[in-house]
Amino acid sequence: MKAKIKLDCQEDTISLGKIIGKLVKAHSLITLSGDLGAGKTTLTKGIGQGLGIKRVINSPTFTILKQYQGRLNLSHFDVYRLEGQDDELGFEEIFDSDDVCVVEWSQFIENILPHERLEIILNHEENGRTCIMHPIGQRYEELVKEIINENNCNGYIE
Ligand SMILES: Nc1ncnc2c1ncn2[C@@H]1O[C@H](COP(=O)(O)OP(=O)(O)O)[C@@H](O)[C@H]1O
Ligand SMILES: [Mg+2]
Repeated sequence: MKAKIKLDCQEDTISLGKIIGKLVKAHSLITLSGDLGAGKTTLTKGIGQGLGIKRVINSPTFTILKQYQGRLNLSHFDVYRLEGQDDELGFEEIFDSDDVCVVEWSQFIENILPHERLEIILNHEENGRTCIMHPIGQRYEELVKEIINENNCNGYIE
């Protein structure tokens, strides 16, 4: 199963993130891939708002991980700088916790990621972005259906 959503402007990306943040359950993994500037951090800002996080969410490019408290706690990773070196980082403990884990550039730590997740691929288009959601596992399929229902303007499942 796959869902496609058109994101015409930054506000659309934030709104989608908010819906995800409202619906996501504890102990979840969301992986984000897409080029630099595709909107991964913007989507995470929206997820944070949906989780009721008050602090401003900024890119963890230099720190790799930033954590925030909300309805559920958010662990926001940007693992771009870890390419090829994913040994003994201690991330497994965080993936096993109740946190909502959002991982930008997740392909760089594929070896240590749990299999079940909501995979999100953002594509930079001439006008805006497109988002493909690919759920792996029953609970993530349910989540995607709920997201598409809430975001009734622009998404469809194929
Ligand atoms: N749907 C969209 N349409 C147009 N611009 C967008 C959209 N979503 C995000 N942006 C803009 O794209 C830029 C890069 O976003 P960012 O989230 O930092 O990307 P990434 O984390 O993937 O590198 C930001 O200036 C943001 O406002
Ligand atoms: Mg980013």
